Amino acid sequence: MAQSSAGNQDVPDMGRRQFMNLLTFGTVTGVALGALYPVVRYFVPPSSGGAGGGVIAKDALGNDIVVSNYLASHPAGDRTLAQGLKGDPTYIVVEKDQTIANYGINAVCTHLGCVVPWNNSENKFICPCHGSQYNNEGKVVRGPAPLSLALAHATVADDKLSLTPWTETDFRTGEAPWWS
Ligand code: FES
Repeated sequence: MAQSSAGNQDVPDMGRRQFMNLLTFGTVTGVALGALYPVVRYFVPPSSGGAGGGVIAKDALGNDIVVSNYLASHPAGDRTLAQGLKGDPTYIVVEKDQTIANYGINAVCTHLGCVVPWNNSENKFICPCHGSQYNNEGKVVRGPAPLSLALAHATVADDKLSLTPWTETDFRTGEAPWWS
């Protein structure tokens, strides 16, 4: 009887030990995976990564913009903010022919960095901070902003919108881009 009782006690002991081992393993594995996460993140390019340091433009909720859906709800002339390069607020431009323009406009004011809203009735970007104005392509038309809004290339592929750095001549001024 005593032996069988000891045996019975062993069973839960074994069970407990295995459970503890499992718990320890789980904890160690969890910690190890947690520690590895940033390393893995570092080496795996983000899903939004495009060629040449580009990003897939995201809407205000952080979802990739799906171009066909976007054009169904954004009419010609529309300028709506998206998350662009380095997370900068960037206007996506819908052209008169209901296609997405091949450039996006960085919304950060070149005066002191306010985000410049689009004014549809004035057909301009007008900064609420100190009154700078930019035309519908983001070219500065009134100070105190010293420079036009920065550009990014906008390219549609697989129904996604890719934004990449604009390093070529600024088509609005014919000058080298001040931002690159
Ligand atoms: Fe835009 Fe000053 S920050 S005008």
